[in-house]
Amino acid sequence: MVLDALIKIKNEMDGTLTFRRSCREGICGSCAMNINGGNTLACLNKIDTNTSKATKIYPLPHMYVVKDLVPDMSHFYAQYKSIEPYLKKKDETNEGKEQYHQTVEDRQKLDGLYECILCACCSTSCPSYWWNGDKYLGPAVLMQACAFVYEFRLV
Ligand code: FES
Repeated sequence: MVLDALIKIKNEMDGTLTFRRSCREGICGSCAMNINGGNTLACLNKIDTNTSKATKIYPLPHMYVVKDLVPDMSHFYAQYKSIEPYLKKKDETNEGKEQYHQTVEDRQKLDGLYECILCACCSTSCPSYWWNGDKYLGPAVLMQACAFVYEFRLV
C-alpha cells in the first residue's frame, strides 16, 4: 500500500517526512491524502505496479497544511462538534435508569449513515466545500447529522 511506501521513505530515506497514520486498515481515517488526483486512504491504496509513472501524493486539497501530508483538521472537527453528534433525550428524567433499545428495523434505517470514519476525503473533494467551507458543513458532517435525525432512540 502507499502508506507502506511512505513509512519506508520515512524510516530509510527522509525522517522528516510527516504524515498521519494509525490503524493501517481503513478504520481511523487519519491517513487520508490525495494520491494521483483522488482523495483516498493511503493504507488502502495499492502501489501502482507500473513504475514508469511517478505516484503523486499531496495533502487533502483546500486545507491549510501543517506540514508535508498533514492538513489542519481543526475547522472540520469544529464543524463536526457544531452538530452536537451525540444522543440527547428530550426528557432526561430517566437518564441512567433505563435502557433505550433499538429495534432491528430501526437499526437498519441507519445503514449507510454510520459507517463514515470522518477521514474528510469527501468534504475536501467537494468544490462547494472548497469555496464555502466557512458556511457549508460539507458532506461528511451533514451525513453525520443525518444519522442523528434518523436516530430513533432520541424520542
Ligand atoms: S491508517 Fe487508519 S485509515 Fe489509514
